[in-house]
This record gives sequence, C-alpha cells and structure tokens, in this order.
Amino acid sequence: MRIVLGVAGGIAAYKAVLLLRLLRESGHDVRVVPTRSALQFVGRATWEALSGEPVTTDVFDDVDEVAHVAIGRAADLVVVAPATADLLARAASGRADDLLTATLLTCGCPVLFAPAMHTEMWSHAATRANVATLRSRGVHVLEPDSGRLTGSDSGPGRLPEPESLLAAALALVPARPEDLSGRRVVISTGGTREPLDPVRYLGNRSSGRQGYALAAAAVARGAEVLVVAANVTLPPPAGVHLVDVETASELRDAVRQAAGAADAVVMAAAVADFRPAQAAAAKIKKNVGMPQLSVDLVETVDILAELVAERRPGQVVVGFAAETGDADADVLEHGRAKARRKGADLLAVNPVGHGRGFGSLDNDVTLVDAHGAVVGTVTGSKLDVAHAVWDAVLRAW
Ligand code: CTP
Repeated sequence: MRIVLGVAGGIAAYKAVLLLRLLRESGHDVRVVPTRSALQFVGRATWEALSGEPVTTDVFDDVDEVAHVAIGRAADLVVVAPATADLLARAASGRADDLLTATLLTCGCPVLFAPAMHTEMWSHAATRANVATLRSRGVHVLEPDSGRLTGSDSGPGRLPEPESLLAAALALVPARPEDLSGRRVVISTGGTREPLDPVRYLGNRSSGRQGYALAAAAVARGAEVLVVAANVTLPPPAGVHLVDVETASELRDAVRQAAGAADAVVMAAAVADFRPAQAAAAKIKKNVGMPQLSVDLVETVDILAELVAERRPGQVVVGFAAETGDADADVLEHGRAKARRKGADLLAVNPVGHGRGFGSLDNDVTLVDAHGAVVGTVTGSKLDVAHAVWDAVLRAW
C-alpha cells in the first residue's frame, strides 16, 4: 500500500518514527508529511532516511509535481500521528494551509487520526466538537491513551504505542486472505556486485525494493519466505529469513540451495550478466601516460535458466525483466521474446530507465507466461505489483 504518515507538531512525534519503521517493515511505501512545527521535534533527515522518500511540508515545494494533489490521490491510507488539537481543528474546518491539510482534502482513502495532547486540550469543547465533526465525515479518530503526559501531568492525551497504532491503521484496509499458507517461497533481490579489485566493483542500480515488497506480501499471505538479498541497504520486511550475498556466484549458490524445498522461486534480483575475468588482488593503480584501461569480462551463469532446467514438478519459477525499448522492439516485445527464451513460468516485464523502475516507488508491470502470452498487467506501488505476482503464481500452481 501507499501510506501517507502525517505528523503534527507534538512531542509524541518520536513515536511516529517507530510507527514509520513498522509500516515499512510490513512492506508498505510510506510518504511522511510533517507539519512545519513537527520538524521542531523530529527533523526531515530522520523521516527521509527511514521512509526513503522526499519530505516536504509546504504546498509550494515541488510545485511541478502538484504534490498537494498527487500525494493524496495516490494514497491507500492516511494516518496522522500525533494529531494535535490545532491539526484536528484545521482538518475539521477544511483548511489547506500546508501540505498535510491539503493532502487530507484530496485523498479518497480511509483516514486515521491518533490525537495526542494535554488532557485539558483533549477535553475542551472546541476539540470535542472538531473530533465529532471529523467522525461524522467517516474519519477514524482514536481515543488517546491515558497516562503520563509531557510534564508531570497525567490523564487522557497520550499517543498509543506504535504497535497499537499499526494495528489500528491496518485494520482500516481489508486484509488479504492467507492464501499462501503452507507454501515455501524463495525470493532473490537487490543487485549483485562483481569485484574488480579490493575496493571497486561492477554493480547496478537495483534497490531491492521490489523483492522486499514481494517478501512482505508473501508473509502477509501466510507463506514461509526466504530472501536472498544482494547488497540491499533497506531494512528487510518483518518475518522473513534473510541471506545476504554480494556476487552473482554467491547469489546462485544461496538460491539453488533453498530452491530444492521451495514451491516458488522469484528472481527479482538484478544479476550481473558479466563479471571481471579476474579480480585484481591489489588496488588497480592509475598509470601515467596510459589513459585507457581494458577489463576482460566473462559471462556469469544464468541462474533463472538453470532454475527452470532444474525445476521440480509443481514448482513455479518467476523472473523479472527490466527492459528499455529500442529501434528493434518495444519493452513488451523484448519481454515476450525473453519469456520464450528463458522458459520461466512467469516473467514480470517492467520498463526501466529515465527515472522508471530502479529505485522508483511505482512500477508498471506486465506479466507474461513462458509462451510470451500476457497473463496480467498492474500499475501501482511495488506492493501492488507483488500481490499481482503472487496472484499469478497461485493461478500457475
Ligand atoms: N538472471 C539470472 N541470472 C543472470 C542474469 C539474469 O537469473 N546471470 C535473471 C534475473 O534475476 C531476472 C531475469 O534473469 O529474473 C532476467 O534478467 P535480465 O537481465 O533482464 O535478462 P538477461 O537474460 O540478462 O537479458 P539481457 O540480455 O536483456 O540483459
């Protein structure tokens, strides 16, 4: 899901940091939209680092993207935690004076407010009326916890703990059936690095997001999930077994070892097609007067083709094809040809380059079978793509 985490300016903003982590670990893409005063409590760098997305507070930032409309429209769920008395008042009166309130006016998805403030502010008639107004419009407003507040005071007004916020937020969207329960799946993700010398490597721009989304979706649907991650810096989804690898050869060993017992293997990793024939034992030096350096590359093993050849009955093998169109054929034609060549049960074809695919947050994928026939298309978050892949795997089983 694409979730907007709105953060208003209260001391409890620190708990929203933990909520952000939990939402990310559950596989969701999260766009944090703090108010200006929220940044007094937790800085932009923290939100950006943990969400992996840009953070702005003002409708006049990123005007070309029309962020105040785009963020709300794309959201599957909006959670505002903490929601201060001021934020509740602005939301109730339909203000649009910052990016968060503008987002609240443009989203068409479920909205959850988790208020946190001093007891007097929470019980004030103005706040009560604002909460009643919001609830009458179908917005979910949690009751705050009772207990120690910022100073020596205590009473109703505490932000609930991040785990309960997570449960309350996810309860607003229909849960997926556990239709992968009892299934073992293996997912490779990330991008391999092939050493040139002790400090340099040949690599690629894969972030590992799509593989982690596949893993989070499979866990949510009840599967036992092993992820082979090549150089992924993002936090892995909760509930997976993780094997970290660096090179194509390490990835091959780890995936093949796990594939024997797997009902499905998904190769979402960007595996190097070539590696340096030899990795230099010492750092390669620049030679004065020698402006060129040639490196011999040798082909790596095509792991997907090998998995297809070794596939046992009932096992489904899925590949990903990151394609760019060229003079010979468009993205889909290249993908269909690759599907026929590789023979995987499913190939997820997605266009890359020019800001699409690698590292980006939304994907645009066509699923084709081993004959190159289109069996599905999906546009949306990487989690949406992940669920579409598992839907297709279920059909293939
Ligand atoms: N793949 C693999 N082993 C390799 C290279 C790729 O298993 N040595 C897998 C990838 O994980 C992906 C699929 O093959 O699932 C397609 O990868 P891609 O790089 O698009 O395919 P290539 O056969 O390398 O084709 P191209 O010539 O377009 O690079």
